[in-house]
Amino acid sequence: MKVRINDSYEELSEAAAEFVINHIAYKPNSVLGLAAGGTPLLLYKLLGDACKEGRVDFSRVRTFNLDEYIGLPTDHPQSYRYFMQKNLFDHINIRDENIMSPDGMADDIALECGRYRAAIEAVGGIDLMILGIGPNAHIGFNEPGNCFVPDTHVVELSEATRQANARFFTKPEEPPHWAISVGVREIMFSQNILLLASGAGKTQALWQAVRGDITPEAPASILRLHRNVLLLADHAAAARL
Ligand code: GLP
Repeated sequence: MKVRINDSYEELSEAAAEFVINHIAYKPNSVLGLAAGGTPLLLYKLLGDACKEGRVDFSRVRTFNLDEYIGLPTDHPQSYRYFMQKNLFDHINIRDENIMSPDGMADDIALECGRYRAAIEAVGGIDLMILGIGPNAHIGFNEPGNCFVPDTHVVELSEATRQANARFFTKPEEPPHWAISVGVREIMFSQNILLLASGAGKTQALWQAVRGDITPEAPASILRLHRNVLLLADHAAAARL
């Protein structure tokens, strides 16, 4: 894992944007894996700005959202599909048919997980996976547990994760209890991984990911077994590295 520590969230986001822009220049039909959450927000804004300035072209890019809450329709303001639409897709020249995300409203969620897994496989896997990290070291919605789950699956969200994400909802009890997430094998099969971490709330998680044991108790720790991970952190998140 390459670790690059940045002076600020802005600097980290600019470095991430340059990385993504260069990646797409090198491979215009890139398949991107996209995390939701607060951390990549500025990265997504910078990509929108760069697209408007003609510095990056998403017309051949395909994207896979990493995860989705079960029970929220795509037009629900807290669904990750909606989040990505408002914060990224509305600002870039991506084609609708190139946007993939798990359907949290599917009648048969097990079938939906299989469909998503097959869709990722059909494009040959992810070229560049953009990840955040949860305060409990989750990636996507791969929560701490006693084993790594390889493929897209249903997750019961931990109380810690529901609380951490409650800030996006109007009421603290509102975050759904269940989600769909891509699995650890799908993440690890990505050609490149960009891991972003900002703020003191991530210090412990980042220590677990970079210095702690490689264990499903800290899902991000498995990224150390990947040959092409770039971690961009700010000083607060990297304080214990
Ligand atoms: C959420 C998402 C993850 C995200 C993480 C960190 O639960 N499922 O994909 O990376 O938590 O979120 P944030 O960047 O808001 O701290």
